[in-house]
Amino acid sequence: MTDSTAKTIDTLLSEHRTFTPPEEFVAQANVSDPSIYENADADWQGWWASWAEQLQWDQKWDTVLNWNPPYAEWFGGGKLNASVQCLDRHVAAGNGDRVAFYFEGEPGDARALTYSEVLRDVCRIANGLKSLGVEKGDRVAIYMPMVPELAMTLLACSRIGAIFSVVFAGFSPTSLKDRIQDQEAKLVICADACWRRGKILDLKKVVNEAVENCPSVENVVVWRRGGDCVSNAPSSSRDVEWGEVFVKQADECAPVSMDAEDPLFILYTSGTTGKPKGILHTTGGYMTGALATTKLVFDMKPEKDVYWCTADIGWITGHTYIVFGPMANGATQVIYEGAPDFPQQDRFWALIEKYKVSLFYTAPTAIRAFMKWGDEHPAKHDLSSLRLLGSVGEPINPEAWVWYLHHIGGGKCPIVDTWWQTETGSIMITPLPGITTTVPGSATTPFPGVEAKLINEDGSEVVGAGGGYLALTRPWPSMLRGLWRDNKRYEETYWSRFPGKYFAGDGAKRDENDFLWVLGRVDDVMNVSGHRLSTMEIESSLVAHEAVAEAAVVGVAHELKGQAPIGFVILRGGYEASPELEQELRAFVGKEIGGLARPDRITFTPELPKTRSGKIMRRLLRDVAEGKEIGDVTTLADPTVLKGLQAEFVKQG
Ligand code: PRX
Repeated sequence: MTDSTAKTIDTLLSEHRTFTPPEEFVAQANVSDPSIYENADADWQGWWASWAEQLQWDQKWDTVLNWNPPYAEWFGGGKLNASVQCLDRHVAAGNGDRVAFYFEGEPGDARALTYSEVLRDVCRIANGLKSLGVEKGDRVAIYMPMVPELAMTLLACSRIGAIFSVVFAGFSPTSLKDRIQDQEAKLVICADACWRRGKILDLKKVVNEAVENCPSVENVVVWRRGGDCVSNAPSSSRDVEWGEVFVKQADECAPVSMDAEDPLFILYTSGTTGKPKGILHTTGGYMTGALATTKLVFDMKPEKDVYWCTADIGWITGHTYIVFGPMANGATQVIYEGAPDFPQQDRFWALIEKYKVSLFYTAPTAIRAFMKWGDEHPAKHDLSSLRLLGSVGEPINPEAWVWYLHHIGGGKCPIVDTWWQTETGSIMITPLPGITTTVPGSATTPFPGVEAKLINEDGSEVVGAGGGYLALTRPWPSMLRGLWRDNKRYEETYWSRFPGKYFAGDGAKRDENDFLWVLGRVDDVMNVSGHRLSTMEIESSLVAHEAVAEAAVVGVAHELKGQAPIGFVILRGGYEASPELEQELRAFVGKEIGGLARPDRITFTPELPKTRSGKIMRRLLRDVAEGKEIGDVTTLADPTVLKGLQAEFVKQG
């Protein structure tokens, strides 16, 4: 950032200590009366039930909530189908001609699909799934780029009651294999390729390698993106063509009536161990949370808004705020396949101008990259269609917040900084754009009906202003129902630290105005460009390399990514530290887990800072990597280790 930009941001910051929603926004907002909070609190189960009532049920529930901590059953006895909420009822209401997706591929190919067309295609895919023997309760793993067919695949699985599990198409063959094996997927649906920064990426190759050792997989369905860019030959007798099996099917498929608590999907996310957790979401409660939050947080008016969430459907943000929330509301949205800086660094702004996007939801890491690329890129485009901006995935620094407000939102768009997690299923802490006077950097207050508290180390509650562990203290409809086939880990990870309360893994503070500021993870999870990575997973990958005896990884502050993984490695005898070996190890992690996890740098060291019981003190490694004064070292077995480590870090940098 140049000095002059820094000054502008400073000025903006001094001008925008708070942002009050403009009158015109409030006048048209879906909700502008603050009493919504008290009313929802007074009868939170009734509040959620009033949202569930806006879904189309085949059979109404008997009980709103059955809470047997930590197991919740929402809308028990009720029956519905998720795809019906997103498709059939809009078509039946006469909105079949409304555009569901404006798709734009990275090379510039574009198409629009209406709700009727999406319903037809989803039915064909669902019939195709049945023809391959997929039944209710079977698991389907999906590895696709950002194309409408990905969203349609999720909806098709839900139509027949198959449990889908999307794996972000940047993950490595090993990561994909682990996820397929854990859920014992019967089918894999993938694309042959996708475009990224002007290049074709061969996704099918990754899938071929991944499924080699996956005996549960009976078929791999391949959707063709690359045309003749990628070898069209099937690589195994299990492969079937999307065009053969999903297109030549009947246009109608009766939805399966699912119990409210039937599983909808499994989504793997990083935890504090080397093994990812399969977060399980069910049908009725998840749809209720997705519907309510989308409508209120984004102030969505489906008949006139054009909404664009830039997340990938491979993450929870894409599940809830591309597929199920917006579509349950009947939204028109943009789906873009590629990179924000291709062919130029103004691609996003060109898309907003072209499609007249009114609601835009992205991540702080992207905003920081845009700031760095320069104000001239958004300035070239007419962004006046925008009326609301959203942020998700990590804390947004106030500088990025005011830049976003001014350079993208024209100084007039409310910004909703939304805190939530894969586990929570939908947004938990957020402003309501027609009500909340926001403060840059704070996600403000819990969504109506949600209760969040800050807890001290000893389990007592933080009263008034102060800092503590963030916990959710009431069940909510879209909460995870468990970890796939691992109840023990579910109970231990989320419910044992503060019994009866959901421990989110984040630290937060509350200010004098009762606003919450989420500060970041307090466990061994890091947040790289808004994506969750486990230090343990990267460490296990490093020690799998023959040269590595021991490894420690920490997430350190990074200007663009928020945090970046940095490794410290002790080599086995017979191996010499060298820049080449550092590159090799970085590449090794990239290949084992995926590019996101590749450490920015690795420092070779003869020793790591450990406690007397042998536990590596990562906090101190972070101090070293961030060039900070080293914290308390009294618990170290050998405090002198740190001096050597600091010297090596500087020398090898
Ligand atoms: O640390 C918090 C951070 O992202 C974590 C959840 O990651 P994941 O399950 O991958 O979901 C990301 C998208 C919902 C949280 O524990 N996080 C997410 N949103 C925010 C945030 N931290 C601060 N402010 C946010 N708005």
